Formats: sequence, C-alpha cells, structure tokens
Amino acid sequence: MKILMVGGGGREHALIMKLLESPKVEKIYCAPGNGGISDYAECFDVDACDIDKMTALAKDLDVDLVFVAPDDPLAIGMTDALEKAGFRVFGPNKAAAEIESSKIFSKNFMKKYNIPTAEYEVFEDFNSAKEYIENYKKFPIVLKADGLALGKGVLICKDKNEALDGLNTLMIERKMGKAGDKIVAEEFLSGPEVSVLAFTDGKTLVPMMSSKDHKRALDNDRGLNTGGMGTISPNPYYTKEIEERCFEEIFIPTMEGMNKEGRTFKGCLYFGLMLTENGPKVIEYNSRFGDPEAQVVLPMLKTPLIDILDAVVDEKLDDIEIENYKGAAACVMVASGGYPEKYEKGYKIDGLSDKGQLKDNDEVFIYHSGTKKENGEYLTNGGRVLGVASRAENLQTALDKVYYAIKQINFDKMHYRKDIGK
Ligand code: AMP
Ligand code: GLY
Repeated sequence: MKILMVGGGGREHALIMKLLESPKVEKIYCAPGNGGISDYAECFDVDACDIDKMTALAKDLDVDLVFVAPDDPLAIGMTDALEKAGFRVFGPNKAAAEIESSKIFSKNFMKKYNIPTAEYEVFEDFNSAKEYIENYKKFPIVLKADGLALGKGVLICKDKNEALDGLNTLMIERKMGKAGDKIVAEEFLSGPEVSVLAFTDGKTLVPMMSSKDHKRALDNDRGLNTGGMGTISPNPYYTKEIEERCFEEIFIPTMEGMNKEGRTFKGCLYFGLMLTENGPKVIEYNSRFGDPEAQVVLPMLKTPLIDILDAVVDEKLDDIEIENYKGAAACVMVASGGYPEKYEKGYKIDGLSDKGQLKDNDEVFIYHSGTKKENGEYLTNGGRVLGVASRAENLQTALDKVYYAIKQINFDKMHYRKDIGK
C-alpha cells in the first residue's frame, strides 16, 4: 500500500513509524512533513489545509489511503473532498469532526444524549455573558472559545474580575479571532485527567491504552497551557472499574449519539476525561490522535496499525482483535525556550544521527515535532521540537531511559519538563 499522511508534527511521525512496521506498507508520503519525518517518508511542501492541492497530490501519487491527522483540515472537510475524489480516507468527515471544532455543538450533543460533562451556558453576545458572570456564585468558572484555538481557547478564571477580563480577551479583543465569537461558560471540575483515544467505524469502538498529558509549560503544572509537554501510558488513575463506567456512560453513548445525529464518526475519537468525585466526565472531545498522546499510545499498540486503519475505513472493526504490549511508555517534549509564547527557530540540534535518532542509543525513539533538515543537519523549526519516547517493562524504566537520552541532545535555549510521569 501507498499512504499519504497529512500533517507534519510528532504525532504524524509516530503514525508513520507505526505504519512502516507492516510489510504491507510499501511507501509513505507526507505533506507537509518535517525534517525528521523526511528520513522515513517522502515529504511534499503542501499546506495541511490546502484541500485542492492535497487532493491533486493524492491523485498524482496514486495512493491507496490518505490519513488526515490534524484537527484543522478535518474541520474544513478535507476528508469529504478526498472521499468525493474516490480516495479511502482515515479521519472523520466535516460533520463528525464538529465534535471537536465546535465546543457549542459538543456541549449541546452531550446534554442531548445524557453524557456526563460540566454544567454550561452558551453565549453569542458579550452583554449576556457579562451579566451571567456578574451574577455567578460558584467561582472558579471556565470560559471556552467555541472554535479551534490551538489549545489556547480555554480560560480558567478564579474570580469575577478574572472572568470579566477573560471575557474581554475572547469577545472584545478577539485574541482567538473568530473562534471566540461565541463562547461556552462552564462549571469548574476537578480531579485527575485521562485521555482515552479510540478507534471507531461507527459500529464498533475500541479504545487504545489510556494516557496522561502534561499541558502546562513548566514543572509542577506551572506556567501556560501548551499543546502538551509530555505523556505517559497507561494512565495510572484509569482503573478497570472506571474504564467500564466510561464505556457505558460515555464511549458507546457518544458513538451512538453521533450516528443518530447523522454524523457517524469514523477515525480516532479522543475522549478528554476528568475523574471527578461524581464520576468520569468529558472535558473535551478531539476528532483525531492527540499530540503527544500518539507518541505513547502507538508504541504500546501491538496490532499492526495498517490493519486497524483498513478495518475502520471498511467498517469492519468488529472483525479484528486489537492488542497492546505490556508495560508502559513515556514521551517528553523538548521545546524551544519561550514556547508557548515567543520563541526563536533555526538553532542547530546536536546529538542526532543522520536518521534523526540518537547516536548509539536504540532504547528511545525521537519523534520530530518541529525540525527541518538542511545539508544533513537538523535545525529547530517550531515551539515543540522533539518528542523523546520509550517503551519499557514499567513506567519508571521508560522515564529513566527518556531522561537519560535527553542529556545527549542539545540546542540553544532548549527547554523540557523534568517531572513528566511523577
Ligand atoms: P481543553 O482545551 O478543552 O482540553 O482544555 C484545556 C484544559 O483546561 C484541560 O485539559 C483541563 O485541564 C482544563 N479544563 C477544561 N475544562 C475544564 C473544566 N470544566 N474544569 C476544570 N478544568 C478544565
Ligand atoms: N495533547 C492534546 C491534544 O492533542 O489535543
């Protein structure tokens, strides 16, 4: 099979490496890809959101499957366009992807199908939101931009002043642009967070191993929210009992509810859960693999990924058995100093082999998030630069291998969290 991967970060790198494990996969192309990906897949300089050019590329390359990995192209209907052009596509269509791209849709959907989530109100104008906040009694309150905002559209406001400021940021200053034209104000929940990514073809839903992201930029969960600074799998808070409850109260009702809405979800459905004292609740849905969740759940997956993708596309997921390895995986993100705010790019990365991996160390895998390759050298080219990942017999060993490996890597202003998995 020849596969076109849409995207160009660590998640896509992890997906490509997993796919290449199967002899069935003959060749992988990636658009736009990045420096590290280019060692394993032929990269093309096509923007991940350029539907026309991507469709033309898929035709040129005559691929057997297109994998649309990031949220933005899914939200604008890349799957619909590719399917219309006759391609087999992994990734939900536009209507189904709205479960992530509109918080208002997902909140109303959960309410309609009795799926546990935080209490909320929707506001389409500033004045009514302001009045609601003026009269709110149970601070903190959480304000969310309706649309996609790179993980920056969620504001947790500890009191009335912060909430009024936050509202201003979203609806008057329009810091998130159009994404903040409508907002959700919701109840603040607390408890451990768990990410569960599941394969579904709309008939069957099979979760992958659970994971835990670390979203804040600095140790001890300080600093700003980021796309994710590190992950572990499995998530130690996610017990068998909780899993059973999630299946019954959240996973199956979500799959069936989407079918009833005429928005059958086919692809990877990501449940962002919080384990509250009143049971597991949905914080958010994503319509795709998480990044850096993919960098730990894929190393834990034993069943060939290509077989699962085929089964989802052909709606035969029920026919295959999905197995995981024993043990645990960890991934630590190595970022550019300053991320998620201002940072510089173009620094030379020391310590990598000519395949973008560690020299003399095959116990970890380096998934490139934001790198480019010039004259055989790797340069930083994003906020998150490398994901250093390992699978081992237990979490501590995986973490030890990752942190040992990171010492071999160096670039100017390099930053990473020292407390992933602690
Ligand atoms: P999201 O982008 O929706 O995943 O939200 C980003 C982060 O904000 C989540 O991972 C949670 O840590 C936090 N968060 C979102 N909604 C709530 C809520 N209702 N209560 C408490 N924390 C929340
Ligand atoms: N790591 C969180 C996400 O991909 O949304």
